[in-house]
Amino acid sequence: MKPVMLVQATPVILRKITLKTAYFQREIAMKPSSATAQANPNIAFIKYWGNRNNALRLPDNGSISMNLDGLFTRTTVSFQPSLPFDELIINGREIVGRGLERVSYILDLVREKAGIKMNAEVMSENNFPAGAGIASSAAAFAALALASSKAAGLELSEQELSVLARRGSGSASRSIPAGFVEWQMGQNEADSYAFSIAPADHWDLVDCVAIVSSSHKKTGSTEGHAIAGTSPLQKARVADAPRRLDACRDAILKKDFEAFANIIEHDSDMMHSVMMTSIPPLMYWQSTTVEIFHQVRQWRAGGLPVGYTVDAGPNVHVLCLGETAKEVEKRLRELPGVGNVLVAGVGGEAKLV
Ligand code: DP6
Repeated sequence: MKPVMLVQATPVILRKITLKTAYFQREIAMKPSSATAQANPNIAFIKYWGNRNNALRLPDNGSISMNLDGLFTRTTVSFQPSLPFDELIINGREIVGRGLERVSYILDLVREKAGIKMNAEVMSENNFPAGAGIASSAAAFAALALASSKAAGLELSEQELSVLARRGSGSASRSIPAGFVEWQMGQNEADSYAFSIAPADHWDLVDCVAIVSSSHKKTGSTEGHAIAGTSPLQKARVADAPRRLDACRDAILKKDFEAFANIIEHDSDMMHSVMMTSIPPLMYWQSTTVEIFHQVRQWRAGGLPVGYTVDAGPNVHVLCLGETAKEVEKRLRELPGVGNVLVAGVGGEAKLV
């Protein structure tokens, strides 16, 4: 008798459970919710340049960087049922067009994962000036990945957050973990993520960014990555990447400044060689950029531990040790053509605030 009753009761109970679950899902899906996150930008020592898949931002080679302490992007994402479309406000200014599209692309990935449909308001602020020689997209997409996933009710692992941030901007994958970070190129979408190779307090490195020009660059990184393969040098640069990654990782872990300076300069020069020989060619250096290279090498030969690296712009990141950072900053400020010098130590991971 009992089993028969159970069988009869089951569809009713099931219907009730289904209705209740649907009700709760709709409740969650329609309830406004927000989260705020903060992330540092990073400076790459072994550069990411070129993708094997541009849409997914799967890089041609792995890269290594350090987060920049004291500089950050803080982003609040609020999903709101009443919003007719996503809104993006950066430093108090509403952004539309390509900038908004890139943000909505990440929000779409989050909405799909969380099963929600609400649009979001994204408010973002940088505490470092635009054109300061520091790529803001890394900090921006790392903070966006963390804030939006949290606001949507997702609990993503560091690895999953790094993958999500990568989809917005490749270098953002490296602004999720703390300190010294490696982004492994991976085999596929899910295993191309970044992880910490040493915590922030492992080595007292300081980045002194010599600002040569604060005007907006004509060709951004995204366009640059897309033409990297037109340079015949890119194949050689990519094939040699594992050696440079090993040398840089080793130098960081052993705190061997001389080896570190040699490999970061070599890697930066290789990336710029590819840029200059791409079609159309990209020349980011200015005369002051090159003058700083000469000075840095002379200072190092004279016993001051310094090394340079340059991203997709003319400003020079001069890496040094904490104990001589003041001296390096002073010397850079004295050089003709250097407008300002920004100083940052090693930063931590992206966090909720
Ligand atoms: C020269 O990460 O800014 O700074 O993925 O298109 O957003 P997108 O490019 P982005 O490229 C960074 C290039 C670089 C080197 C580096 O940071 O590794």
